[in-house]
Amino acid sequence: MSGIYIHIPFCKQACNYCDFHFSTSLKNKDALIKALLLEIELRKNYLKDSTIETIYFGGGTPSVLSEKDVFNLLEIIYKQYNVSSSAEITLECNPDDLSNEKLMELKRLEINRLSIGLQSFSDEELKWMNRAHTAQESESSVKRAQDKGFENITIDLIYGSKFSNITNWRSSLRKAIQLNVPHISAYNLTIEEKTKLGHDYKYQLEKPIDDEKSSEMFIEMIEVLQKNNFIQYEISNFAKEGFYSIHNSNYWKGKYYIGLGPSAHSFDGVSRQWNISNNNLYIKYLNEGAKKYYEKEILSEVDRYNEYILLSLRTIWGIDLNYLNQSFDISFNSTFQLQLGKLLRQEKVVIKGNIVTLTNQGKLLADKIASDLFV
Ligand SMILES: C[S@@+](CC[C@H](N)C(=O)[O-])C[C@H]1O[C@@H](n2cnc3c(N)ncnc32)[C@H](O)[C@@H]1O
Ligand code: SF4
Repeated sequence: MSGIYIHIPFCKQACNYCDFHFSTSLKNKDALIKALLLEIELRKNYLKDSTIETIYFGGGTPSVLSEKDVFNLLEIIYKQYNVSSSAEITLECNPDDLSNEKLMELKRLEINRLSIGLQSFSDEELKWMNRAHTAQESESSVKRAQDKGFENITIDLIYGSKFSNITNWRSSLRKAIQLNVPHISAYNLTIEEKTKLGHDYKYQLEKPIDDEKSSEMFIEMIEVLQKNNFIQYEISNFAKEGFYSIHNSNYWKGKYYIGLGPSAHSFDGVSRQWNISNNNLYIKYLNEGAKKYYEKEILSEVDRYNEYILLSLRTIWGIDLNYLNQSFDISFNSTFQLQLGKLLRQEKVVIKGNIVTLTNQGKLLADKIASDLFV
């Protein structure tokens, strides 16, 4: 079982915090779709004949595509790959794109999971983020999607900006729960160097908020969402039973995937490759049939081990000690056991059977803990 990721590198406007690969000029959209169709065909054997369990349109903003664009992409995928008839097909959408007409298109295309980027329930904060929608538009887009029969909906929220405090974060969580969606992704605002926000922080035009406040919001979120039957199956991802993202869960479980489009990454168990993060060059190289549109690295055993630690530690499935012992050089075990003892004493991790997972306090330091366990 494998997944297909398709990166749509266009957005109507640039959000001040966002460092993903996108262009705000849509003039190359048709040429880019053509190049994507070429790449889909060219790489049809990348996953051998593995069954495709998930297709994920991410971005950028896939909801800027026309019905015909998405149709053409799906058509060639169905033709060239072995797609399961019950595949999860997700499309990331911005609220301002979700008109009734657009939602009908997505239904016709048999998109069965929508990821809607709400980010915030405050107009002031949305404006500061340079989002293209109001809070009211966000909420109504979710309701419209539900009215059109979309059940499997996830929303994205961001906390930890200068506008957020524990009181308004509680109210945002209440609003998110009231929207009656079965999945919520909530990210702590990261300051990315090459963004408007990164620039403003560098020149002290903006001040970061205390880590302590963000941590308080994170713990509050876990408690509130758990009380409302959401399961935290990954640090930033909460779902009702039966609504985990299969696509993202497969990334975290180390399953194979093919990433298509500029900046997309692929993994086949042995190597990792990533496409060029430049729309014009991506189009040019694919049209020329030049392999220069991607770079590739073969993963060493240490790479694979560290990656397993990093990804699995963030999830509800945790690190499987039997898997570690059976799959990797036994000499890695001594570093692991030494660090594990410390982490257990500090109550940052727990062990049940052969599975190591983070405690809530540990989740606040997930990346640091993972790096302590690396070889
Ligand atoms: C790359 S965006 C694509 C989705 C869609 N274009 C949108 O804006 O809703 C995926 C998600 O990443 C999150 N994100 C992007 N940059 C972030 C940052 N610097 N800090 C925290 N979350 C971020 C946002 O919540 C966003 O919805
Ligand atoms: S958050 Fe979404 S809409 Fe905003 S710039 Fe990033 S990808 Fe585009």
